[in-house]
Amino acid sequence: MIRAAHTSDEVESFALENFRVQCRTCYQSPRLRDFLEDPDQDLKKYGGDPPIKDDKTTTVKVVPNLVEDCPIVIKRYNTKSAWHAVRRTVGRSRAENCWMRAMALENLGVAIAPPVAFIQEYLGAGLKGRSWYLAEFVDGPSCLDRLPAIDDETVQGKQLEQIIDTLKKIWDHHIAHGDLKGSNILLAQDRAVLLDLDAMKQYEDEEAARSHISKDVERLLRNWKKDHPHPALYELTQKKLSEAGFSELR
Ligand SMILES: Nc1ncnc2c1ncn2[C@@H]1O[C@H](COP(=O)(O)OP(=O)(O)O)[C@@H](O)[C@H]1O
Ligand SMILES: [Mg+2]
Repeated sequence: MIRAAHTSDEVESFALENFRVQCRTCYQSPRLRDFLEDPDQDLKKYGGDPPIKDDKTTTVKVVPNLVEDCPIVIKRYNTKSAWHAVRRTVGRSRAENCWMRAMALENLGVAIAPPVAFIQEYLGAGLKGRSWYLAEFVDGPSCLDRLPAIDDETVQGKQLEQIIDTLKKIWDHHIAHGDLKGSNILLAQDRAVLLDLDAMKQYEDEEAARSHISKDVERLLRNWKKDHPHPALYELTQKKLSEAGFSELR
């Protein structure tokens, strides 16, 4: 369920002990509040499948009933080392990056998983610890799973057009995604949705923008060249990119 587009006054901020929280008010629910006030609690109590991912860097879990009618994906960025915590003290944490970018992208009309909340842990002495980014669950396969399984080239072409349509919206604003592996592009019912916004960046300098968008184009094509070789899909992606005006970047 996609909630209404937000304005900045629809974000509530609060601080609790060593956590600072920002949450969009349209998602208020007692269970979500309970989690935001104590993000360390065991998520098993909310049910759902085991985490999609759980390693030293990140933990990603879909929680079915934190908010009514709307599964939520919780991504926790784990602190890798003390040095990492120090480095994050001067810059934004990765969850905060996602949060800020998601808000900006929504305002630009880019298809992303709608942002729900962001939590920052503070370790004392200004050091930033772990951070959490919560977004709506988007129902749809990744382009890696979906595109090769389609045997009709016209249908494949339409799906690619949706992907390029979403990407054109960021590229036209001189924004590069920075990590366009196929698992970061979900094919929802009527649009392609971008995930993993952490590496995204907007470039003021025209040349820098072209160079980084060109890297996005290469990374997208690499999905069908090296990661999951599929020559026909590679060519079709090249053709669709060229029709959208992005071939000259390569
Ligand atoms: N909002 C979402 N809706 C649906 N699936 C998601 C969502 N966020 C993450 N996922 C799933 O979890 C996987 C890992 O999440 P991601 O944010 O891409 O983390 P990583 O940094 O490990 O790549 C994604 O490839 C996708 O399958
Ligand atoms: Mg990813």
